[in-house]
Amino acid sequence: MMRIAVLVSGEGSNMQSIIDSTKNGNLKGIAQVVLVISNNSNAYALRRAENENIKFVCIEERKNFGNEKSFNGAILEELEKAKTNIVCLAGYMKMIGHVIIEAYHNRILNIHPALLPKFGGKGMYGHYVHEAVVKAKETESGATVHFVEKEYDNGEIIIQQKIEVFKNDSPEDVAKKVLVIEHQIYPEAIKKIIENKM
Ligand code: GAR
Repeated sequence: MMRIAVLVSGEGSNMQSIIDSTKNGNLKGIAQVVLVISNNSNAYALRRAENENIKFVCIEERKNFGNEKSFNGAILEELEKAKTNIVCLAGYMKMIGHVIIEAYHNRILNIHPALLPKFGGKGMYGHYVHEAVVKAKETESGATVHFVEKEYDNGEIIIQQKIEVFKNDSPEDVAKKVLVIEHQIYPEAIKKIIENKM
């Protein structure tokens, strides 16, 4: 059984899709979510973790730790304590520390709500992505699961899937359509990693 830790900041619907998949979907019998870490104590994702009886911790601001090193150290310590095999960033709105990327190289995945390399990079997250897609009059968008490297949204792509964007779609319309496919492709991408199909 692969042990997954999920890092979240908000709603946690992608985290939920991973948990559901370990219970009833294509991750059943091969993976389990053992830890949830959030930088936001108000994240609804933490309530979800509680409802699922999954251990959760809140590691909030770098400033509470004095420096970057101890903040990242606190995350790393939790990941190690939980004997984590795979780390999934699921709407985690903070840059992940280099020490963590080095310790878990090629074992940290992220989901991005666009067709990378388009609409990625610093400042491109959540609703900003969908606003930019609509503003650019794109006819398609989508979601990408990729490995996390030190540079933003730059690691190897594991799975990418498209949705159509119609002329009158609002950013919220695009977000809704993208989220539906996010929930499908994140568990699929994890399965691909576990089965060594990359
Ligand atoms: C998702 O759309 C995810 O792709 C995006 O935040 C949302 C989180 O929703 N992530 C990013 O923009 C990261 N660059 P969720 O909390 O319901 O899973």
